[in-house]
Amino acid sequence: METVVAKADLENGKVFQAAAEILKQGGLVAFPTETVYGLGGDALKADAAGKIYNAKGRPSDNPLIVHIAETDSVYQLAADVPEQAKKLMEAFWPGPLTIIFKKKKIVPDTTTGGLDTVAVRMPSHPAALKLIKDSGVYIAAPSANLSGRPSPTTAAHVMQDMQGRIDMILDGGAVGIGIESTIVDVTGDRPTILRPGFISAQMIKDILGDVTIDPAIACMDKNLRPKAPGMKYTHYAPKGQLTIVEGSREKVAGEIERLVAEKKKAGYKTAVLADTDNVGLYSCENVFDAGSKKNEITVSAGLYAILRSCDDIGADYIYSESFEECDMGYAIMNRLIKAAGHRVIHVD
Ligand code: TXA
Ligand code: MG
Repeated sequence: METVVAKADLENGKVFQAAAEILKQGGLVAFPTETVYGLGGDALKADAAGKIYNAKGRPSDNPLIVHIAETDSVYQLAADVPEQAKKLMEAFWPGPLTIIFKKKKIVPDTTTGGLDTVAVRMPSHPAALKLIKDSGVYIAAPSANLSGRPSPTTAAHVMQDMQGRIDMILDGGAVGIGIESTIVDVTGDRPTILRPGFISAQMIKDILGDVTIDPAIACMDKNLRPKAPGMKYTHYAPKGQLTIVEGSREKVAGEIERLVAEKKKAGYKTAVLADTDNVGLYSCENVFDAGSKKNEITVSAGLYAILRSCDDIGADYIYSESFEECDMGYAIMNRLIKAAGHRVIHVD
C-alpha cells in the first residue's frame, strides 16, 4: 500500500476531500490532534478497529477513543450523558479530555474492545475537526505509532512507523501538547481519572467539585490493574533502557554522570534527558534539553520526540531527571515512569 502524505492545509479542500473519502470507504488516515497524532478509521464500522490494530501491529483488545466534532454527536454514541459529563464537555471541549460513557448499540464491540462503555473526545485541532466534519464519520483513533513505540508528535514520526501500512497521513506539523488526552470515567459513583494529561485533576475538581484518580495510576504501582485497558501496556518505551534519577539537582546530575561513565566504559551508548536549567551541569554526550519544569508544556511537547531520538542514535541506556509530579508534571511522570518500566533511583 502506498501511503500518501499531504499538508493539512485548511484552505485546501481537495486534501480533506481525499482524506474524507478514504475514511468513508473504510480506509485509514493519520491526522494531527492537539495531543498526539491519531490513526483514524470509521468508529461505526465493525472492521475498522481490526484494520487499525493490524497497522499498529497489536491485537485489537484495546478500546479506541471515538473522535467527534460536535457536542450533539455524544448523544448518538452514549446511552447516558450524566450531568457531570455535560459540565466537563462544556468546560473542556473541544480539547484534550476524553470522557467514558455507557455505549449505545451502534458502537461496535470491536471499537470498544468488548466493553459496554465508549470513550469519546472532541479534539481542538482544526485539522482534526475539519476531517471529522468533512467525512461525516466518527473517527476511532488510537495514537498513530507502532505498538511499543512512543506516540507520534510529528507527521515524520507517523511516517517512520506507518509508511506502507495506512492510506494517508495529514501533516499538520508538530503538535502542541505532546502527550495523550486526560481520560475521565463518569459512569461510576465518583468521577475517576483513568489517564492523566494536560487537563489536570485540579482543573476537573474546579468544575465537578470532586474527582478521584484510578489507584493503579495514582501510586504508579505496576502490580495494580488500571481501569483503562491500554494503560497496562508499556506504551511509551524507547528501545534503550530508561532509568529516572530523582533528588536534588546537583546530586542527580552527579549520579547520572557516574552511571553514564560506567556504561561508557562497558562500551554502551548513553543519552540523558535534563531540564533546560540543568543541561549545563552535564559534560557527557547526548544530553537532550527536555524543556523546563517551570513551563511544563515545554517538557510534554518534546518528550516523545526525544525518546525517538534516543532510539535513532542507538542509545543502550537512557537516564532522565525527574519532572515534578503536580498538574501536567503528574501526567509527564506517568508517561516517563511507564517508559522506564518503573526503574527509578532516589539519590537524596
Ligand atoms: O490524546 C489522545 O487521546 C490520542 C489522540 C489521537 O486523540 N489518542 C490516544 O488513543 O491516546 P490510545 O488508543 O493510544 O489510548 C486510548 C486509551 C487506552 O488507554 C484505552 O484503554 C482507553 O483509552 N480507553 C478507550 N476506551 C475505553 C473505555 N471504554 N474504558 C476505559 N478506557 C478506555
Ligand atoms: Mg497509544
